Amino acid sequence: MNARSLLTDAEALLAEAGVASPRVDAELLLSHVTGVPRSLLLVAARPNDLQRRSYTELVEARARRVPLQHLVGSAAFRFVDLEVGPGVFVPRPETEVLAGWAVNQALRISAQGPEPLPGGGSPRVVDLCTGSGAIALAIVHEVPGATVHAVELDEPAFGWAQRNLSGTGVDLRLGDAADAFADLDGEVDIVVSNPPYIPLDAWESVAPEVRDHDPALALWSGDDGLDAMRMIEATAWRLLKPGGAVGVEHADAQGESAPEVFGRHWADVRDHPDLAGRPRFVTARKHL
Ligand SMILES: C[S@@+](CC[C@H](N)C(=O)[O-])C[C@H]1O[C@@H](n2cnc3c(N)ncnc32)[C@H](O)[C@@H]1O
Repeated sequence: MNARSLLTDAEALLAEAGVASPRVDAELLLSHVTGVPRSLLLVAARPNDLQRRSYTELVEARARRVPLQHLVGSAAFRFVDLEVGPGVFVPRPETEVLAGWAVNQALRISAQGPEPLPGGGSPRVVDLCTGSGAIALAIVHEVPGATVHAVELDEPAFGWAQRNLSGTGVDLRLGDAADAFADLDGEVDIVVSNPPYIPLDAWESVAPEVRDHDPALALWSGDDGLDAMRMIEATAWRLLKPGGAVGVEHADAQGESAPEVFGRHWADVRDHPDLAGRPRFVTARKHL
């Protein structure tokens, strides 16, 4: 069977299983198995028997709604790749916008951005609820000279973050974001977080890839989905210097309720959309 026929059959199976992007997933899995870039799959040599068997197994797993990233073992996030698998939340494209906000804030402080801040220097950034380490890794990769700290509560997820952040200089700690980094109180320029934010009663509406494969601790956050947001707000207030900024991701239904969490002490409270235009993260600044 040539690549074209394999892809056609796989696409049909994945579409029937309710996979959102069946053709793309079929191509990415075949590229993973053969090592042939996706754009060359149709002109490359016919896959051999071993490759076809591996491909069939992977497509069947994908049809059972195992996340694509678990099957290929990695997830792309901005300019980096993260190792992912069972036990860790798969980083999402929508979080790249929040990470980009943190990168831009940090670049301005490090005096390398287009509008450097007076008295800039080495920005100190904290990523709360780091999961695979995606946001921390993006920042350390894109902001030379940044000092990056990250914390994760869940031991299996922490193990993945250790692998992804090894050798990067990120200060990774195992613990609860609620009381993390007491040694940095009042010394941090930027706090960034993609915490759990799904309301407990939204179980039915969550895709099988997420519900059955992302860890529960990465998803659910109390009746209104904002328990972690309230915790992050308190931790950010404790960690930030005067003038420091916080950015936190939220669900698209929380475009008003998430900013309200920052209503009391904070300046410049703003909500931001993701690439699809849906409300996605809130930012705020600690008064000077
Ligand atoms: C939605 S995932 C996001 C992971 C990563 N920031 C990303 O964007 O890919 C949330 C993460 O927060 C972790 N987490 C939940 N509660 C936490 C807490 N109190 N302290 C630290 N980490 C926590 C979960 O284990 C999970 O890894």
